[in-house]
Amino acid sequence: MAVVTIDQHEITIPDARRLNVIEAARLVGIEIPHYCWHPGLSVVGSCRMCLVEMGRRDPRTGKVEMLEKLVPACSTPAQDGMVIVTDSEKVRRARAMVEEGLLLRHPIDCPICDKAGECSLQDFHFKYGQGERRADLRPFTSRRRDVGDVTLFVDRCVMCSRCVRFAAEVSGTHELMVTRRGAREEIDVVDGFPLANNLSGNVVDLCPVGALCDKDFLYRQRVWYMRKHPGVCTGCATGCSIWVEENQDRIYRLRPRENRLVNKWWICNEGRYGYHHVHDPGRLIRPRRREGESTIELDWTTLPSELESRLKRAGRLAVVLSPHLTVEEAYLLCKFVRQIDRQAALVLGPIPTVGADEHFPGGFTVSAEKCPNRRGVEAIVAHFSDRMTMFEEFLPELERGRIRGVWVAGGYKTDWIDETTARRFDAVEVLVVQDLFPSLLGIGAEIGGARFHRARHVGNVPHSQRHVGNVPHSQRATYELPAAAFAERNGSYVNRGDRLQSAPWAIRPPAGVRTEGSLFWELLGRAGLYDARAVLNEVAREILYFSAALGPLPDVGIDLKVNLLANDDKSTI
Ligand code: SF4
Ligand code: SF4
Ligand code: FES
Repeated sequence: MAVVTIDQHEITIPDARRLNVIEAARLVGIEIPHYCWHPGLSVVGSCRMCLVEMGRRDPRTGKVEMLEKLVPACSTPAQDGMVIVTDSEKVRRARAMVEEGLLLRHPIDCPICDKAGECSLQDFHFKYGQGERRADLRPFTSRRRDVGDVTLFVDRCVMCSRCVRFAAEVSGTHELMVTRRGAREEIDVVDGFPLANNLSGNVVDLCPVGALCDKDFLYRQRVWYMRKHPGVCTGCATGCSIWVEENQDRIYRLRPRENRLVNKWWICNEGRYGYHHVHDPGRLIRPRRREGESTIELDWTTLPSELESRLKRAGRLAVVLSPHLTVEEAYLLCKFVRQIDRQAALVLGPIPTVGADEHFPGGFTVSAEKCPNRRGVEAIVAHFSDRMTMFEEFLPELERGRIRGVWVAGGYKTDWIDETTARRFDAVEVLVVQDLFPSLLGIGAEIGGARFHRARHVGNVPHSQRHVGNVPHSQRATYELPAAAFAERNGSYVNRGDRLQSAPWAIRPPAGVRTEGSLFWELLGRAGLYDARAVLNEVAREILYFSAALGPLPDVGIDLKVNLLANDDKSTI
């Protein structure tokens, strides 16, 4: 147990925790400004912004002896008997001098800089800088350099080297380096070897100033206009914690939310830029029913009862559950379908998989499985049925003609069904397809008379437009219902490591779209508004696998394996 005194606060730190002085001060709400230190990177102690006074208390006499020189808080471990002063005149002068040194050569870019409003240099200058400028003011704007996935405003850099260490230690790709020396130091890449890796977007978040900027976000929105909401990335089975940043129901960027048990401080580029489909004009936005060769747009007020009676008349039912559904949605949909047909087949929808898992030296993994909730949906199906039917096994069943009604909950970001597979649904009498985009299983864009285009959304790849000439033409669905996108939903996902995380909705869906959860809630005849937390509580009470989710859910989510280990032989999956 170490007892450290920081500005009169006594802090007790357990032996198992190893903190530096910056982290120890945070425990009592004291900010020690810093540029080069980051908890996810090695310590270099180069910026000198974190200088503090340090001394030691003699355990016998209680007398405190302070060092003559200031010490960097980032590279000083908090140890027993240590006395730290962060607000003396000496410390204030040192900080002001560091700020003055940095601003001597800094461009006057704040009005046009993406980082303005969340820039450490700006903030620290107002808090710790000095009022007057002693050097001549030479207004200039920064040189801009394309270094690959992101853009570098060379003169805005404060040479903290976070980006260089990230590329060396976390992505392990080593593209970035420091060139030249002294006042001429610059960040750069070697010609022909640009910054190009699946974690590259993190250097923008790491950069304490506006030197490294995101090409996707550049000049699109001022940061003070945006609201941020906690979310979960649905790009793959890793399930990174993210912030969804939006203004007036339009997402402008996704950024990592610290979760040391899942993604630490990082996210991959696929996840970071994987939101454009949410605002794609090609999305389905109103429910429709096919009537022979034409379609009829439907009204949500009467649709639930119509769907229920059509499915009741159909006979044997099946439901295809997408691994993009939340735990709550999958549970409600299974319950609804089983309420109509106790023998209804519960089928796990196609699992989108691309290549192999991508591992990085810093411990980050991008999963090959490109969906957020296979584990959660599997556990729900296992609760309702002795047997999990996989999509491929289900297709021959369809052709035998026994199954008369199918509800397909899709919600895939990319094309997920081909013509051969879709044709196997032809014998189904009542086919309800709920999806984000028109598919070969749906009603088809041409039938409705609407033209649509759909962007391809894979990582940071430019969006190519694809027109209706190439795609859906089908007249398969009896009902085509628009699905909500990930940021429009309220619910929980279980990642590849059995960690359940819940996320509230961040934006409202486009007019005409109703979230899956609220539709299933009504179909089950539940009163009032859809309440995802109430559904999760119900799931946690009924299904052992989810029992750990019954209590309060921390921001980092909850490990569902904990209760399974305690009840190993009673496990449901
Ligand atoms: S570009 Fe940003 S992160 Fe990289 S050294 Fe400069 S200030 Fe630091
Ligand atoms: S690793 Fe997966 S969950 Fe994490 S940001 Fe990338 S796509 Fe999203
Ligand atoms: S944060 Fe300590 S020297 Fe930079």
